[in-house]
Order: sequence, then structure tokens, then C-alpha cells
Amino acid sequence: MYSEKVINCFMNPQNVGEIPDADGVGTVGNPRCGDIMKIYLKIKDNIIEDAKFKTFGCGAAVATSTMLTQMIKGKTIDEAMKITNQDVAKALDGLPPIKMHCSLLAEEGLKAALWDYAQKNQLTIEGLEPPESSEDEEHAHSEAAE
Ligand code: FES
Repeated sequence: MYSEKVINCFMNPQNVGEIPDADGVGTVGNPRCGDIMKIYLKIKDNIIEDAKFKTFGCGAAVATSTMLTQMIKGKTIDEAMKITNQDVAKALDGLPPIKMHCSLLAEEGLKAALWDYAQKNQLTIEGLEPPESSEDEEHAHSEAAE
């Protein structure tokens, strides 16, 4: 069963949407269910000033992304890198084991957005590896069509 915090975060999601002039954008897919997550970051002087997400994921994905984006705002990149899906699940008073994979969407989306930021700024972020399931949007700016 879902904790009260999970239900609250799902019923009142925070930080949903896009950051048009984001410094880093990451898109990942969940191999377990095929759902998709996109995370946008605004970063200044190594601090995550803003974070937003859009997802086709389930309620647990919405709740974990709400919690994750709240947790990383105001943090340095290194501090954000240390936040795992387990930390996010803990902050939500737990997730049913069968839904733990959903929380990976938020963590991996964050890492993919940080990777994008690092690539754009020719930075190396310690411990950060290229996202496995990110879409290569370099040559496919379909969103810009409208
Ligand atoms: S079932 Fe796909 S993110 Fe939860």
C-alpha cells in the first residue's frame, strides 16, 4: 500500500512542466514498464536552482519525481549526485517493492539531465556515467516544431 506522502505527492504533484531555457535536460525510459521521464535543470554556479519534470509514468513515478525535484533544489551538483532512488523512497516513507523500479526513473532522469549539462559545458562530474536509455535529441528537435 502507498504511504500518505506518496499519495499526497501524487495528488498534488510539484515541479511539473518544462524549463524552457534549461541548462540540462535528460530523458530516460524505464525498461520494466516502458514509461518515460524527462527532467529539466537550471544550474548556476554549481547549484541546482530549479528542477522540473514531465512523465508518462505511473503514480509512483509522479510522486518520486515530485520528491526528487524538491530534494535537489538548492543543492550542489555533487550533493544531488549522492541522492539515490532509495533516498527518495525513504523520504516518501517507502514504496511498495513492486513499485521501486518506478523511482529509478526520477534518479536516472536526474543523472541524464546532469550528463547533458556536463556535455554542454565540457565538465566532468565525478561518478556520472552516460545515460543508457536517453534519447539522442541532438538531431531530433521535434519539439521545436510548434
Ligand atoms: S509503472 Fe512505469 S513508472 Fe511506474
